[in-house]
Amino acid sequence: QFVDIKANGPSSIGSDLCLHGFSHVYGLPEHADGLQLRDTRDGEPYRLYNLDVFAYDLYSRLGLYGSVPLLVAHKPDRTLGVFWLNSSETFVNYGSLTEYGYNVLKRRRVEPQTDVHWLSESGVIDCVVLLGPSPQQLFTQYAQLTGYQALPPLFALGYHQCRWNYDDEADVKAVDAGFDRHGIPYDVIWLDIEHTDGKRYFTWDAALFPEPAGLQRHLEEKKRKLVVISDPHIKVDPDWSLYCEARDGRHFVKNRQGQIYQGSCWPGESSYLDFSSSDTRAWYSRCFGLDKYKGSTPSLFVWNDMNEPSVFDGPEQTMPKDAVHYGGWEHRELHNLYGFYQHMATVEGLITRSGGLERPFVLSRSFFAGSQRLGAIWTGDNVASWEYLRISIPMLLSLSVAGIAFCGADVGGFVQDPEPELLVRWYQAGALQPFFRGHSAKETKRREPWLFGEEVTAVIRTVIQQRYCLLPYWYTVFHQAHTSGLPPLRPLWVEFPREQSTFTVDNQYMIGGALLACPVTEAGVQEVRVLIPESGEVWYDVHSAKAYNGGKTLSLPVTLDTVSVCLDSHSNGYFMSKYIMEETFIFIGVFSVLVSHCQTYPHIAVE
Ligand code: NOJ
Repeated sequence: QFVDIKANGPSSIGSDLCLHGFSHVYGLPEHADGLQLRDTRDGEPYRLYNLDVFAYDLYSRLGLYGSVPLLVAHKPDRTLGVFWLNSSETFVNYGSLTEYGYNVLKRRRVEPQTDVHWLSESGVIDCVVLLGPSPQQLFTQYAQLTGYQALPPLFALGYHQCRWNYDDEADVKAVDAGFDRHGIPYDVIWLDIEHTDGKRYFTWDAALFPEPAGLQRHLEEKKRKLVVISDPHIKVDPDWSLYCEARDGRHFVKNRQGQIYQGSCWPGESSYLDFSSSDTRAWYSRCFGLDKYKGSTPSLFVWNDMNEPSVFDGPEQTMPKDAVHYGGWEHRELHNLYGFYQHMATVEGLITRSGGLERPFVLSRSFFAGSQRLGAIWTGDNVASWEYLRISIPMLLSLSVAGIAFCGADVGGFVQDPEPELLVRWYQAGALQPFFRGHSAKETKRREPWLFGEEVTAVIRTVIQQRYCLLPYWYTVFHQAHTSGLPPLRPLWVEFPREQSTFTVDNQYMIGGALLACPVTEAGVQEVRVLIPESGEVWYDVHSAKAYNGGKTLSLPVTLDTVSVCLDSHSNGYFMSKYIMEETFIFIGVFSVLVSHCQTYPHIAVE
């Protein structure tokens, strides 16, 4: 039913690149797939087209919520990036032509070669090749082009508790008290769409949330924060002042006929803010002002969802490509930037609200290259199954390689109910990922950490406490991302670039330069196999301090309370190597800063 007449005529642009000597290629998020890109000659190309995909298929190259057109190739002596700056629908075909070998006829060694074909629907060719040669240099080069990771406020690196929905003020207070009663630290509680008056964002359901400011003060007494959702669709309601302001200020996307575009979403008939216009962004930012956003206080932060944008009755559940933005640009030209611009306007709003004094925290579902400058993203509507737990690791590593360093997956799985063992393992994995939030869909059973018996509560408590013990380390590695572009979550090859055995690993990874994590992602396992790279390196089990020589795969026993095996690497076998001394020094330095400024520590002084 959707006829795309292509008013400006059909178009496409493309380019072929040959990457000599490379056979390991990564990047191009977001796909629910392994870290290493797969040869596309036997199937579909990688598609970059932001879409709302509920309970998405695994091992698929179809588009998900966000896109970063950065491909990263790696071989022992060089890491290289190809950045294809284009926000229209894009396809990438990739094929590795040969393996290392000896060509008898030509009497010479043949090198592997990777062919990459980029194809975008519109725009111009704007392609940058980043030469590395080290992974670190590549990340810095890419950050110079698209921006460094925003330094998150410390609380945002703690644990977040979300659900669609916490029903009313009493419910929020009960969950909040539950954390205290069970001795589980947390920093942020979240409200989904039902907290609003009929899905009108910036409002509150007066019966369920009669005193939102009081609720925030109640949380703030314990230095905790509230996050509320704010989606880009605006209910068509001529009796609602915010709708009228947006309509009269010409802040909505138009259809091809020049009328305000309408599509359906949570509130029913909705119009969509045109965040590509700087005027609209400035207006939207002002909506977060404390005087304008009634019931908000400085401890309220924001979550942008459905911003691919999701349109329930649109083609592929998104906005038609012929919708028209500010300046006459068709939606097809900037589709993949829509969520990025909403994220930007929200972040601006929070910065302005504090007079430029406080760092914002905004989570967005949709993203594009550069979204790292704005805040966090998460991997959307995953499912409570072991496979989705497993895929969360390569998904987050791909995002990290492409600069989107503050990322996470819904702990426990958003759709369906996790069995207790899966929930525990998911907490253990999530605690070792940058954005750490438990979230669940409306139809699922409640799953606050204390609802599954004492054993499960105890394990989850330990895991969250350990996250807080490592918080200074997380803050340090985020500062590193903020200043050098190196992501906190690193595929093993980033730290061990010459070690070929690491190039295909995507079930374990480094957190910063010192910690190796290998989450348990299978049911009923008694042991886990962990590759510890580099002979000559000594690794220490974080919990037992037992030392192992690197350059082999270990089998380590695990029980339910074994937090994803985590080892500390010390270069050259010196226990107090220069490297670790530096790391320790930063640790202590940051720690003392935290104690004086940070709100998080008082309530993690656990027994
Ligand atoms: C879709 C989001 O992905 C999910 O996290 C959220 O709970 C629902 N929208 C409702 O707002």
